[in-house]
Order: sequence, then C-alpha cells, then structure tokens
Amino acid sequence: MTFLLGKRESVGQFGASIQESEELVSALENSVMTIVHQIVNVLNWGLYMILVVGGAGYIGSHLVKELVEKEEVIVLDNLSTGYRRLVDEQAVFVQGDLGNKADLEPIFEKYPIQAVMHFAANSLVGESVVNPLKYYQNNVAATLTLLETMLKYNVKNFIFSSTAATYGIPNVELITEDYPTNPINPYGRSKLMIEQILADFASAYGLNYVVLRYFNAAGAYESGEIGEDHNPETHLIPIVLQHLLGQRDKISVFGTDYNTPDGTCIRDYIHVTDLAKAHILALEALLTGKKKTAIYNLGNGLGYSVKKVIETCEKVTGRKAVIEYTDRRPGDPARLVASSQKIYEELGWKAEYSLEQIIESAWKWHQWKGTKWSSCP
Ligand code: UFG
Repeated sequence: MTFLLGKRESVGQFGASIQESEELVSALENSVMTIVHQIVNVLNWGLYMILVVGGAGYIGSHLVKELVEKEEVIVLDNLSTGYRRLVDEQAVFVQGDLGNKADLEPIFEKYPIQAVMHFAANSLVGESVVNPLKYYQNNVAATLTLLETMLKYNVKNFIFSSTAATYGIPNVELITEDYPTNPINPYGRSKLMIEQILADFASAYGLNYVVLRYFNAAGAYESGEIGEDHNPETHLIPIVLQHLLGQRDKISVFGTDYNTPDGTCIRDYIHVTDLAKAHILALEALLTGKKKTAIYNLGNGLGYSVKKVIETCEKVTGRKAVIEYTDRRPGDPARLVASSQKIYEELGWKAEYSLEQIIESAWKWHQWKGTKWSSCP
C-alpha cells in the first residue's frame, strides 16, 4: 500500500500529465477495491482463510510474514526443504504433502479456504535435468492433486509461483509476458505445464488464477531472521556471501565470454519482500474480482552482471572475494531481465529494493544464520 500513498502524495500537482491522471484513477480504483475487500473481510471475520502451500520455504515464508497482517492464514508444508521456524507464529501450520489427498482433504474440510497460494516446488534447474521425474512428479502431478482438491471443495482462487525459466533463452532487452515461452529444461517445462493447465481449468471449471513469473529472487526479511537456505546452494548471491563469511574458499564465475558488456551473465534480482507484496496485490485482485486470470513478470527491470553482483557484495560487506573464472554453466541464458510494466499498470506493483539493499538484507541474514541458525528449532 506504500505505492498508493506515494501516488496520493503526488496528486494535485500542477500540470499533471494524462498518464499521471490515468495512474491516479488506477490508484483510486485500487484503494476502493482494497476498502471493499477489507469491509468484506470484517463482515466475514473468521469465515475464510488463505491456504499457503509451501509456506515454510524461502519465498513462501516471506509471503506469510506479510499476509498474516491482513488475512487468516494456514500453511501446508512437508518440510522437505522448508523450515518450521520460518513460519510466522500467527499462521496455523500443518505438516503434509500437497500431492497427498489424505493430507489435503482434512484441511479443506476443516478450514474455510477462500484461496490457495502455491509455493511448494523443486526449483533447481540442474537437478531437473538429471532427475526430471522428481520435477514432473512434485511440480506437475502433485499440483494437479492440489487443484483437483480445490475444485472438489469449490475453492476457485489460485496464485501460482512460476518462473523466468519458462522463457528459455530470450533475445530481448526486457521480457514482456507475451514473449514466446520456450523452456529449455524440465524445471521450466514443469512450471509452464501448470500454467497451461490453469488456462484450461479457467475455461472448463471457472478457476480464477494469477501466475507470477519470478526472475532472480534474493534478499531476506528486514529482521535478518528469515531468509534463504538451500541445500545445496546454487544461487549467486548466497554463494558469494557464504564465501565472504569464510564458509567457502572461493567463488566460481561461470563464463566470461557472453555477449554482455563485461562478458558475464546478466540477471534481474528482485527482493523477496517485493515478491511477497506482489502476491498480496494479486490475491486482492482475485478476491475483489478485479482479475479472473492473469500472468505477470516479477522483476526489477534492471539487469546486473555476475561481476557487478560480486562487486556490490564486496562493497556492502567491506570484504574482498577470491574469484575463479571458469567455463559457462550449461543452460544459462546471457541475459534475463523482466519488464514488470504490466503488473505496475494493472495492480500498481513496483519493486522497491535496489541491488545494494537486497545484498544488505541477505548479508544480515547470512551473518545471523552463521551464528544462530543451528540453535533454532
Ligand atoms: N553464477 C556464477 N557462479 C555461481 C552461481 C551462479 O557465476 O556460483 C552465475 C550463473 O551462471 C548465472 C548467475 O550467476 O549467470 C545467476 O545464477 P543463479 O544460479 O543465482 O540464478 P539463475 O539465473 O540461474 O536462476 C534463476 C532462478 C531459477 C530460474 C532461472 C532461469 O533462480 O529459478 O533463473 O534461468 F529457473
């Protein structure tokens, strides 16, 4: 809602352009929708809940942190990669598997679920190439079971975590949502399959959904006490910070001969709290009926090279990295940068954290984790 306040503050300035007026109308529309939704919320107090599947994982736990301030939340997670302690204590927690009807049905029986937000997926590109069965099983088959259960209990609002990997190797500066999808690995294909299934379910069963295609999620919650903990870790920012904390000998930079200004790959890093806020706007859009179906990219719209990310990590931490330049990692596109114009225009969302702020928050988390994590339940 910071965005709306920001818009209101700019209202009434002399000589506002047509674009500013349109933005104002859209901001007012959003405000009215939000108020209506809040009234409905109060009237229905305790009558509905939001189910967050995978709410103990990295992105899911950050969403839950924001969502519990607005809605009644229930988290389902099998804790295969997530952590119970990452789940905000205001949420109801159920340990179970989204692919198992015996775990799902009691939740839908017991709680008045109004919408489902789905974060529970395997997301390692390399692993998906070696073990595609795991990806089609966990990301596709299990999601189908979840969708089938939702329909059985007449729950028709769904927010789905998708990925930039659905685009494959695009060759544009800024990727818009209508850019052709052409995933080059089973992970990307598993996500695209669900996107296609959702479109079919919308036509056939009246399912309402928002697909959010994340670019490079990074950073941690401002307290520094929830954040990213993958095992094995493959992502650039955590790897660099672990190295700068002395937990790794060096960093490998995968490829210096890409067609980019410094020869290393360019990515669009987006703070996990910015991602969480986009989910909440998407949920409001579904619950208020503003949107029936939509697909949005979530990125900063700014690209940073691997070298730039390492330099920024050095600047933030005041430490010097030992870098080894190696061959390209298979399957890495040279440049992946989102246009997030569509979600800005339709839902008023815009990323707020800079690369430096993303790294500062991640640094706080990695330092905290290095000393306190093992003693936590
Ligand atoms: N990189 C290194 N060294 C490392 C780790 C990464 O040089 O030790 C480079 C990679 O080659 C890439 C960049 O840093 O150029 C970013 O790599 P990440 O592994 O952090 O992230 P990816 O861009 O590979 O992954 C993201 C999402 C995936 C999605 C993928 C689509 O995290 O979910 O984009 O390409 F599938």
